[in-house]
Amino acid sequence: MNDAFGHPQSVIVLGGTSEIAREVVTLLAADRCRTVVLAGRDPVSLEVTATELRQSVARVEVVLFDAAATGDVDPTITRCFEIAGEAVDLVMVAVGELGAQETDEADPDRIAQMVTVNFTWPAAALSAVGAHLTRQGHGRMVVLSSVAGHRVRRSNYLYGSAKAGLDSFARGLGESLRGTGVTVHVVRPGFVRTKMTAGRSPAPFAVGPERVASDIVRGLEHGQEVIWTPGILKWVFSTLGCLPRALWRRLPG
Ligand SMILES: NC(=O)c1ccc[n+]([C@@H]2O[C@H](COP(=O)([O-])OP(=O)(O)OC[C@H]3O[C@@H](n4cnc5c(N)ncnc54)[C@H](OP(=O)(O)O)[C@@H]3O)[C@@H](O)[C@H]2O)c1
Repeated sequence: MNDAFGHPQSVIVLGGTSEIAREVVTLLAADRCRTVVLAGRDPVSLEVTATELRQSVARVEVVLFDAAATGDVDPTITRCFEIAGEAVDLVMVAVGELGAQETDEADPDRIAQMVTVNFTWPAAALSAVGAHLTRQGHGRMVVLSSVAGHRVRRSNYLYGSAKAGLDSFARGLGESLRGTGVTVHVVRPGFVRTKMTAGRSPAPFAVGPERVASDIVRGLEHGQEVIWTPGILKWVFSTLGCLPRALWRRLPG
């Protein structure tokens, strides 16, 4: 249950090895978060993250799933809630795969996987989480979308279109949950220096995962339904979104 100051004490992370999510949990731990369930696909790196977090969080548990397969979304989410063993205050959906647009776009299996990992699995999971939180009568969902979904680009339209779908789904789900005590918070980061972007040239306004985490925690404190990070991207993308297509095509990246 959230503490008297509204700080989450029990958290589930879907995409438990995400560097952005790890920074968020580190900040929440400083605010006395005491239970974290990390769900992900790789038991070794999950355990490494769990061991780090146990320095500051009393109980960190691990659940395995693969977002490339949608068959067991419901049991995975149920397992996360069972293992948490108490009311869950916050669920963060940080699963995502950037892929390699140049080669993926000619491969139907990769296209299907990109859509599944970045949209289908997270959307199904959000719906299942929403049902659990609604039964509790409270809880917040944080969904890692991306500016890449705001206006898709030739250079990464597989990832961008899947994120656009997830972003819209999450906003619609948030509307459907109004009045239940459950809220959905969509995060739209720009380029973040994590293992996902390693080896790529940083885009303008690139930031580290610590900055994204502090923007998320502050956004939650203010009840923001959409959290742009860094905040300036809200104004940059509002402007870019209106550019004529001929100009949009000429932008670098
Ligand atoms: N970094 C950026 O520039 C950026 C910008 C905008 C939005 N985002 C979004 O922010 C979120 C977190 O990204 P990040 O930067 O923290 O990168 P990250 O550290 O690579 O995190 C991505 C997470 O997704 C997991 N994942 C990928 N494919 C999976 C699968 N098939 N099954 C289960 N888990 C899977 C990864 O697990 P493994 O560790 O096992 O690979 C990892 O936990 C993602 O949704 C990403 O799209 C990132």
